[in-house]
Amino acid sequence: LDNGVARTPPMGWNSWNTFGCNINEALIRQMADAMVSTGMRDLGYQYVVVDDCWFNPNRDSSGNLQGDPSRFPSGMKALGDYLHGKGLKFGLYQVPVDKTCAQYFGSYPGATGSQGHEAQDARQFAAWGVDFLKYDWCSPNGSIDQQVTTFAKMRDALAATGRQIVYSINPNSIHAKTGPQRNWGDVANMWRTTEDITNAWDTGQANGYPMGVQNIVNVTVPLASYARPGGFNDPDMMEVGRGGMTDTEMRSHFALWAILAAPLIAGNDLRSMSSATQTILKNQNLIAVNQDSLGLQATQVSNDGTRRVLAKRLANGDVAVALFNQGGAATTVSTTAAAVGKSGTSFTLLDAWTNATSTTSGSIAASVPAHGTVFYRVSGGTIVSPPPSTTTALVSAASG
Ligand code: DGJ
Repeated sequence: LDNGVARTPPMGWNSWNTFGCNINEALIRQMADAMVSTGMRDLGYQYVVVDDCWFNPNRDSSGNLQGDPSRFPSGMKALGDYLHGKGLKFGLYQVPVDKTCAQYFGSYPGATGSQGHEAQDARQFAAWGVDFLKYDWCSPNGSIDQQVTTFAKMRDALAATGRQIVYSINPNSIHAKTGPQRNWGDVANMWRTTEDITNAWDTGQANGYPMGVQNIVNVTVPLASYARPGGFNDPDMMEVGRGGMTDTEMRSHFALWAILAAPLIAGNDLRSMSSATQTILKNQNLIAVNQDSLGLQATQVSNDGTRRVLAKRLANGDVAVALFNQGGAATTVSTTAAAVGKSGTSFTLLDAWTNATSTTSGSIAASVPAHGTVFYRVSGGTIVSPPPSTTTALVSAASG
């Protein structure tokens, strides 16, 4: 979506994975403080997204949305001001349908969806200083065409406010998995490719509920041509630092999100991160690959079912290469400079995790532990392949 924002994948934090409905303004402020004190803000993490359960279950007498007065006694504008004062940006959750997921499943009262209130709610968000709207389908009903029309209504309502707001949608929740069925870049800045991630490597789901990291990767890799500045496939908030995976798996999770040009939205408790977690989330080599100005998602170079190679061309002519072992035992994963689109006789490999550099005349290979990812930034030589498609024509903008 060419609305001026999300020219690179948005980075930040979201409350849902760790806290679900257990949120309040003190918690959100603490998370913002931690984002600053840990140095994450200065590495690019910017959006603090308050997910489901922030609202008063009733609109006011004029039909305006209101924050939950017991959870957010200072009001939503005050929260936005606090975040802006820290150099951060304010994200909020809403649904187009009648009820949010928490309302639908009965864990939170009311019915506060934006259907029929799009313009009024968008103005309210803008007045509160919202910079990021997560708009979540949360209904078993609606064809994909109805979803496009409905999501486009809020797209247009946000645009009409004149405020720059990242528009993040999830067409899959409690719904047929329409996320991978089209390029949503005409509608939103980022779109979820699957149902919810869970704190696990592999749940055995193809695209059901809930999804492990490996399962989401499988769905998201084929959608590479959709990514471009202003529009990114969203494989969901990260589970890094939540304890459900080994360190090797969490490093893979982050490395794969980075090379897939995924929004890097942390989902862990930032107030109590281990140094291992911080090392992952703050890896500057991987953040630089993710935030590269070309906005490309890695394309798959090879996949034999165990050894999988992904490559992402970068603006300065380097190529990022992930050597991913999805098998259960260590193995050597290999490719070549030519296969990732480079010609020449000598290349430098920067290992994104160790910062070690090595040179090669063409072979790019490493022993990779089970579920691990070795990640190189390849420089030298010249780019031979045309850039993987940045130019996939967007379907003409859906009318709202
Ligand atoms: C479903 C979404 O996919 C989750 O990320 C989260 O927003 C929940 N809904 C909240 O109810």
